Amino acid sequence: MAESMKGWKRTHRCAELSLQNVGEEVTVMGWVQKQRNKGGIIFVDLRDRSGILQIIFEENDCGAEAFAKAEKMRSEFVIAVAGRVEKRSGAVNENLKTGEIEVRAGQVRILSESETPPFPVEADSKTKEEIRLKYRYLDLRRPDIQAKLMLRSRIVSEMRSFMADEGFLEIETPILCKSTPEGARDYLVPSRVHPGSFYALPQSPQLYKQLLMCSGYDRYFQIARCFRDEDLRADRQPEFTQADMELSFVDVDDVIEVNERLIRHVCKEAVGIDVQLPLPRITWQEAMDRYGSDKPDTRFAMELTDVSDTVAGCGFGVFTSALENGGSVRGLNVKGQAEMPRKKIDALVEFAKGYGAKGLAYLSVQADGTYKSSFAKFMTPEELERLVQAMKGEKGDLLLFAADKKDIVYSVLGALRVELGKQLGLIDESKFNFLWVVEFPLLEWSDEENRFMAMHHPFTMPMEEDWQYIDSDPGRVRAKAYDIVLNGVELGGGSVRIHQDDIQEKMFEVLGFTKEQAWSQFGFLLNAFKYGVPPHAGLAYGLDRFVMLLTGADNIREVIAFPKIKDASCLMTEAPGTVDEKQLEELCIAVTAEKKEDSVEGA
Ligand code: AMO
Ligand code: AMP
Repeated sequence: MAESMKGWKRTHRCAELSLQNVGEEVTVMGWVQKQRNKGGIIFVDLRDRSGILQIIFEENDCGAEAFAKAEKMRSEFVIAVAGRVEKRSGAVNENLKTGEIEVRAGQVRILSESETPPFPVEADSKTKEEIRLKYRYLDLRRPDIQAKLMLRSRIVSEMRSFMADEGFLEIETPILCKSTPEGARDYLVPSRVHPGSFYALPQSPQLYKQLLMCSGYDRYFQIARCFRDEDLRADRQPEFTQADMELSFVDVDDVIEVNERLIRHVCKEAVGIDVQLPLPRITWQEAMDRYGSDKPDTRFAMELTDVSDTVAGCGFGVFTSALENGGSVRGLNVKGQAEMPRKKIDALVEFAKGYGAKGLAYLSVQADGTYKSSFAKFMTPEELERLVQAMKGEKGDLLLFAADKKDIVYSVLGALRVELGKQLGLIDESKFNFLWVVEFPLLEWSDEENRFMAMHHPFTMPMEEDWQYIDSDPGRVRAKAYDIVLNGVELGGGSVRIHQDDIQEKMFEVLGFTKEQAWSQFGFLLNAFKYGVPPHAGLAYGLDRFVMLLTGADNIREVIAFPKIKDASCLMTEAPGTVDEKQLEELCIAVTAEKKEDSVEGA
């Protein structure tokens, strides 16, 4: 029978005890990690969120009744032990914080028994993630996950205290909203009171935080839950958390300055990493040209080289036709990989095709100075020589080339660079390379929509010096938008916002909104702007991503207590689920979809 807490009080967490407590009478409580019965002596490893402590039961000390309880103990029983801290009688356990001590049990209570868990509760579990997520409450007991969630809590509290010291007010914004213009698909909530009408869950607090600036709150901050119905990846969840902020009377540099200090503070206080300020800044264009990515991983070199001019007019049709079609030819120099086996190169070609490449041309500079290449036969020796030189190719190097439309070349070589960095072990995992990417394009062309779309959102301020091109060459206009990148992951992003009517109206026009459409979607914001609006700017971090990178996790599911899997379902609660007919009737909703097969994709 489970015993109660009556009259008992915990004095310490397990791993709070050390040699300094030897001789003290203590009461500890937690879960049985392991019970070992050595005949007259029973050892129990007791676990709580602080760590593990060895308890020793001997009948002489604790009496027959307590000893009998200890004999019964199994993994995951919840117990309370009152006893004395002693130096370990046996060998010291170097792997445990409490390895030099043990608690000699006097009294003991079994607070709760446990069935055999479906998998052992231990660090670095080999158990499949699907099983772990189904029994997430057990998975969350594992010390490595607990460490991550405890660090998450620490990071959030350091953020909060920094922001409060800097004069930011924490203000909550609604979860039941009208849709925000962030671009992903909305999660909708039907209204019972207004049949046929729907709320949208916020993709971010963007419009509300801008309204708070209109209302004079000056500096706003929120740990905000956001919802986006988009395809999931390792660093994406349908609901995720932003550390969101907005500031009045500021420009780009002011936002960057306070955020650099925030980053330094959090890294130092929560994880003990020293971040040198100022953080490096790179323009979007430079990031694309050098790394093929707007979120470059700068922990290793291997930059892209533009060889379009070098190969113009050469004999290799793949290169020249790409150039004739307005495209570009760029290459990567993979140092010292000339001997890469054909099979591995073929795999890289396939990888490149996954990013839209039609192929990947290669050339290796052999030890004797000759070339092995998929295209050498199409080029003269002089053309080849010039190309190798442009690539700074030396004996032993492998050169890879993509020829296509510029955006495809960027995305292919950008992805290939990161893949090779991983495969070849070029990445220094001990580094935390923060980087600002600034001066993003204001607009990007969408073939699908056949119009320009806002790269960030429609309220992003163009750069003053580029505004003159808004009619003649809209794609050339850069924005006062910035992203903060850490080790090749987009950690956060933001922008200065438009606060002038004429610029905003023009933006809507360029984006193809009629006045009516703009007003029906954002009327409340446009109205608010009529009554005195301060210049303002902001930024939001993906908090889960930040925690993922600071804890060394390779997936945001590891730093979210109850995450969803790839198909946006929860394996533990089995959400989403069907609802009662009555609930649907109240909402005036008829379900037309045929019931899909019960299929749960892997996480
Ligand atoms: P943005 O859309 O860039 O900007 O989002 C900010 C940051 O949120 C994180 N993020 C995500 N994290 C996990 N799962 C997702 N599905 C997901 N989507 C985004 C990213 C991203 O950098 N309102 C603007 C910010 C602003 O302008 O102030 C916004 O939401 O780390
Ligand atoms: P092919 O003449 O089509 O056999 O192509 C010769 C080489 O060029 C092969 O190594 C192809 O992978 C490569 N290739 C084909 N298309 C492209 C492209 N768009 N960019 C770079 N290399 C390509």
